[in-house]
Amino acid sequence: MDLFEAIKKRHSYRGGFEDKPVPRAHLRQIVQAGLDAPSGCNAQTPRFVIVDDPALVRTLAGMHDRNKAMQQARAFIACIIDKEPPAVYQGMSFQIEDCAAAVENMLLAITALGYGSVWVDGWLRIDGRAEIIGNMLGLPAGKCLRVLLPIGLPCEEIKPPAKKPFDQRAWFNAWEQGQ
Ligand SMILES: Cc1cc2nc3c(=O)[nH]c(=O)nc-3n(C[C@H](O)[C@H](O)[C@H](O)COP(=O)(O)O)c2cc1C
Repeated sequence: MDLFEAIKKRHSYRGGFEDKPVPRAHLRQIVQAGLDAPSGCNAQTPRFVIVDDPALVRTLAGMHDRNKAMQQARAFIACIIDKEPPAVYQGMSFQIEDCAAAVENMLLAITALGYGSVWVDGWLRIDGRAEIIGNMLGLPAGKCLRVLLPIGLPCEEIKPPAKKPFDQRAWFNAWEQGQ
């Protein structure tokens, strides 16, 4: 799939998944796209735990009470950052940005391979879910789960939300007055 087609097609998929596994070769290809993302000072900070063990997948899937993509996921990618990110440049850390760049690359790869997913972040930060899942995945003390991507083959048509038109959000050379 062409890059621009993948960008247009990518959307948050919260519907059900077909009962088909995601082959490891595809999971590796998706995570490699995350590893290839840019990172501040090329520090390459995000780490990934790929969950495809059926029992563990079921346990994670059982934690969500609404999102069908989470409940029926055939695999998960857990994106891990440091709890207290060390500075890499003049006192600054870029771990959140590094993680976000990797996640977007992976979402595009997921789309290009015909799978669906959704960026799960806010949900993890409620009721200690990130810590609970982090413990299940054996994360060391200084690491935390920041984003979870459920993956599977979509079996529902989801209408993606509309994006505002170009002229309302982007301008050449100067901010457009009145916007
Ligand atoms: C930083 C961030 C956190 C997000 N957290 C969640 C989440 O916890 N649960 C969820 O269902 N979607 C989450 N999303 C997905 C957004 O709701 C979604 O991207 C937005 O509604 C736009 O829809 P689209 O992805 O289909 O373009 C998150 C997206 C981002 C970028």
